[in-house]
Parts: sequence; structure tokens; C-alpha cells
Amino acid sequence: MQKVAVIPGDGIGPEVVSESRKVLDVACERRGVSLDFEEFPLGAVHHLRTGEILSDETVSRLAEKDAILLGAMGDPRVKPGVLEKGVLLRLRFHFDEYVNLRPVQLFEGVPCPLAGDHRKVDMFFVRENTEDFYVGLGGRVRAGRSRAEFDLVRKAYEAKFDVGIDLSDEEELAYQIGVITRGGADRVADYAFRLAKEKGFDLVTSVDKANVLTEMYGLWREAVERASKRHGIAKEFLYVDAVALHMVRNPERFKALVVPNLFGDILTDLGAALQGGLGFAPSGNINPEGISMFEPVHGSAPDIAGKGLANPVGAILSGALMLKTLGHKDASDDIERAVRAVLADGRHMTADAGGKTSTKAMGDEVASRLKGL
Ligand code: NAI
Ligand code: MG
Repeated sequence: MQKVAVIPGDGIGPEVVSESRKVLDVACERRGVSLDFEEFPLGAVHHLRTGEILSDETVSRLAEKDAILLGAMGDPRVKPGVLEKGVLLRLRFHFDEYVNLRPVQLFEGVPCPLAGDHRKVDMFFVRENTEDFYVGLGGRVRAGRSRAEFDLVRKAYEAKFDVGIDLSDEEELAYQIGVITRGGADRVADYAFRLAKEKGFDLVTSVDKANVLTEMYGLWREAVERASKRHGIAKEFLYVDAVALHMVRNPERFKALVVPNLFGDILTDLGAALQGGLGFAPSGNINPEGISMFEPVHGSAPDIAGKGLANPVGAILSGALMLKTLGHKDASDDIERAVRAVLADGRHMTADAGGKTSTKAMGDEVASRLKGL
């Protein structure tokens, strides 16, 4: 029996997670998979009631699980970043979930903003998830001298930064430090090439901005070179701006992309738009040797929370990704087939894709299609 922690979270999080659970139950039952779910009420409501964001005790209870299924974090009543950083980023870092896997696929029946021949959208983003400009090191300085010390602590290393700044004039300066390590880049590149091999792709696209951010992305490129040689699969290096252009002009050229954290965050939202909207996009925060966390790409969407308007497909497909990572490929494929069938027949579509189906009715439809497979 594998143990799954469920964190519904804020806004539409609980609504979409409940549909994902509904579908998971059916998929598991059909394939004889037994999962033991436990809910963790983290997020704004818990924070406002108790003052707590994520206690060490909760983290150690989560550490006993095999996987985590999450809805979304973020609430207008709480300062932006408090829950997103305090829960999401903390868990990603704590469990060293160094791969953010985001498949971008177009589903038949879902309106796509692209025209004609370029509708072949089927790519996998492997986004680095623990480094780059998301390490949270930085500060603000007013004219004069200032000094700051930072500790960057990861499972594999610890780095101490001692930053001294002498700022002239009556100016104010803000800075943010980006970090790439050889080990950090090696492991995510390795994951991308292993994924390419598994899928039968002959090319991995590496995305960076090595012409301007030469130090960080120079080191990044070396890691991709090594992984390419090790796996005997070709690589190409593209700059992030060019990738944005190609994703719109000829998305069919991409299969597997390996991307540093910040650019990956941005490009995968573009990817979500290409596949018909944020509501369709699943993701996994993966530590292949540890505890992974699965969540839809979208946030808590407070503007539509509680109205039954949320599209649960991204959350349902995140559940399918979780099943695959836990070793239940058949059950995972079943969910994908059921989702594809429901979307293709066109009678059931949530409001974000121009339909009238409610969150719950969409989940019900996928579950009943799954029963009939
Ligand atoms: P968002 O993803 O919550 O919403 C963006 C837009 O897409 C909104 O108009 C929303 O209604 C729509 N949308 C999102 N998911 C949808 C779905 N499943 N079905 C239909 N429409 C959907 O991003 P936003 O508005 O920038 O952020 C809202 C809150 O969520 C903030 O607190 C933000 O920090 C947080 N957030 C959390 C994330 C996470 O938990 N992983 C990721 C992104 C944002
Ligand atoms: Mg994002």
C-alpha cells in the first residue's frame, strides 16, 4: 500500500483536487492499485486560523508518504508569496524535487490558439526546480556601504555568500543572485535525456541565455553536453527568446526541452496557452529517488473560486502523472485515455474552453468514461 498526502490548498485547489481524487479512486480500483490518502489542510484558512504556515511536524509527517498531491496555494487575504513560498517552494526544496516535469499536449476537441499546420503540440518540459534565480538570495541597498551574508543549503551542498556593496550617490539598488551548480545541472540534464530515451526522441533542446548570462548558463551547457554524450542522444542549444518564438511559429519542432528554473516557469505558461489554457496543464515536482509532488500548473484562481467554473483536467492529469511515477503506468494511461475521450467528443467542456460543464460534472464525466473503458 502506497501512501499519498493530499494538500487541497486555497481557492479552486480543493475543487479540482476533489475531482482528481474521484478519478484516481476509479482508476485504482480498476487496476487493483491501493493508495492510502491522507488530507493535510494547509493554506490560507489554516494559516489565518492558527498563524502557522507549515510546521516542522507536518513536514516530517509528509516525509513518511510516497507522494504528495496538491491543489494550489495563494489567497488574497494573505500577503503574496507567504503561502506560495512558505509551503510550495519549501516542500520542493525540502524534498529536493529537482525536476519540474510539464508535458504540453494538445487534446483533440480543445480549441487551440494556433492555426493550421502548427497544431502539432506535443512536448515535454523538464524544468530545473531548485536553483537559478529562484534560490531566494538577494537584497536592497541604499547609498553607502552594505554587507549581507546568505546561506544556500541544499541536500547535496551548502554555499555561503558574503556580499559587500558600496553604492554611490543617492541611489537605491536591488539585487538577486542566481545559482547553477554542476551537480544541479547534471542531474536535471540526465533526467531529460533519460526521458527522451524512454519516449524514443532523438533530440533534446536545451534552453538558456548563455550569450548574456555567460557564467551560469555556460556551466549549464557543459552539463547538457555531458549528458548528451553519456546517453548517445543529440542536443541543441537555443536561447530562450528564440524558443518563445518557435513555440508559437512551429511548436512541432520540440519534443523534450531541458530548461533552467526561471525560463522554464515562463515558457511552460506559454505551453499551457498552446494546449488550450492553464486549466489543462498538469505538472510534477519530481525527485526520482524521493518524494514527488504533483499539482496542476495553474494557481488558486480566486476570481472563479467557489463557482464551479474551474477546469479540473490539469489536476486530474496531475493525478495520472503521480500514478505513473508511483509505478502504475496502466492506471495512469487509463486516466489519460478517459480524459482524451471526454474532450474529443466535445459535449463536455468547462467555461475556460468555451463550454458550460461544471467542475464536478467534468470530473464525473471522466470518472464514468473511465469505468466504461
Ligand atoms: P492563476 O493560475 O490562479 O489564474 C490565472 C487565470 O487563469 C485566472 O483568470 C483564473 O481564473 C484562470 N484559471 C486558472 N486555473 C484555472 C482553471 N483550472 N480553470 C479555469 N480557469 C483557470 O494565477 P494568478 O491569478 O496569477 O494567481 C492566483 C493565486 O495563485 C496567487 O496567489 C498566486 O501566487 C497563486 N499561484 C499559485 C500557484 C501554485 O499553487 N502552484 C501557481 C501560480 C499562482
Ligand atoms: Mg508559473
